[in-house]
Amino acid sequence: MDLNQGQGGSELFQAQSHLYKHIFNFIGSMSLRSAVQLGIPDIIYSHGQPVTLPELVLALKIDQEKSSCVYRLMRLLVHSGIFANTKIHKGEKEEEGYDLTPLSRLLLKDNVTSLSPFVLAMLSPAISNPWQFLGDWFHRNELTPFEVTFGMGFWDYGSKNQEFGRLFNEAMVSDSGMMNLVIKDCKSVFLGLNSVVDVGGGKGAAAKIISEAFPDLKCMVLDLPHVVENLPESNNLNFVGGDMFQSIPPADAILLKLVLHAFGDEDCVKVLKKCREAIIASKDRGGKVIVIDIVINEKKDEHELTEAKLFFDMLMMVVVTGRERNEKEWEKLFLEAGFSHYTITPIFGLRAISHFNHSLT
Ligand SMILES: C[S@@+](CC[C@H](N)C(=O)[O-])C[C@H]1O[C@@H](n2cnc3c(N)ncnc32)[C@H](O)[C@@H]1O
Repeated sequence: MDLNQGQGGSELFQAQSHLYKHIFNFIGSMSLRSAVQLGIPDIIYSHGQPVTLPELVLALKIDQEKSSCVYRLMRLLVHSGIFANTKIHKGEKEEEGYDLTPLSRLLLKDNVTSLSPFVLAMLSPAISNPWQFLGDWFHRNELTPFEVTFGMGFWDYGSKNQEFGRLFNEAMVSDSGMMNLVIKDCKSVFLGLNSVVDVGGGKGAAAKIISEAFPDLKCMVLDLPHVVENLPESNNLNFVGGDMFQSIPPADAILLKLVLHAFGDEDCVKVLKKCREAIIASKDRGGKVIVIDIVINEKKDEHELTEAKLFFDMLMMVVVTGRERNEKEWEKLFLEAGFSHYTITPIFGLRAISHFNHSLT
């Protein structure tokens, strides 16, 4: 049976190559992971100039026999824009070398905005294996494909598997590296506050940036006990272990960065109600909730940005019980939790910052 609706050969072959690209998209991700594991961005950076293939192979301490494999890995990563090919002039000679691009600069270990830990955690077996069960899961009762794979939820797994827990928390720290840009651009959101609790604040990377930018602001991080144990505190930054569904310490403001997207609507409303109680408890100073999270906006965003947001949405479905939301869906949560006025401001990249004051209605 020919079901190709009379398409010509060239259309069929074009469709076939597009489909192959989709089938093999994971190869791009996994090749990127191997470059990070091998430390290639840092090797190029510390070389001080573009690195030739033999220099790269030498620095990687890889057997010469695998030199052509390094060449093939780099050819793909240059093609996908992670690295660049560039000419190097050595006296009379002109050679080809590999250079960094804005993408691979974001992978440099010592860069405050390094996303290398994010690459390693998100492409680790714990996060990539559950995708094998996605199709089956639609017919099963577990809450997530993650639970099908490991027999427990994501947060439990993180507390029981120290190595993965560490990798994930480091990934979240690395994602927060760019928070100083948010603070710079959205200073007014934090101005005039005396205290803030970063709920689900992980190892406190965002709170640390905020505490340093506003030395008079008392910052507290609330996260699961195993996440916040033995973390260094400062004059205006401290940590408390607890459960945000049970209670949130009172403060002028509550920050939720990339927390609500990891939970379903019902759970989000529960947490937002707890936030409301926490800021009402200190209402004499005029409290607010600040949410930094993804907002899907298919009409306004470029195709690639929407695609990245939809990838996050699928990730939230596969590993946790969350989802990415559009403005209407966020509004519904805020209203259900008893907040009546909110402002959503897109910030750089994928995220937006929303803030709303408590209403006493
Ligand atoms: C996606 S991470 C975001 C971390 C951090 N806000 C950031 O942006 O880097 C979600 C955080 O919520 C924390 N979390 C999950 N369940 C929690 C609960 N019941 N109470 C407090 N924190 C919780 C996790 O441990 C994790 O650190």
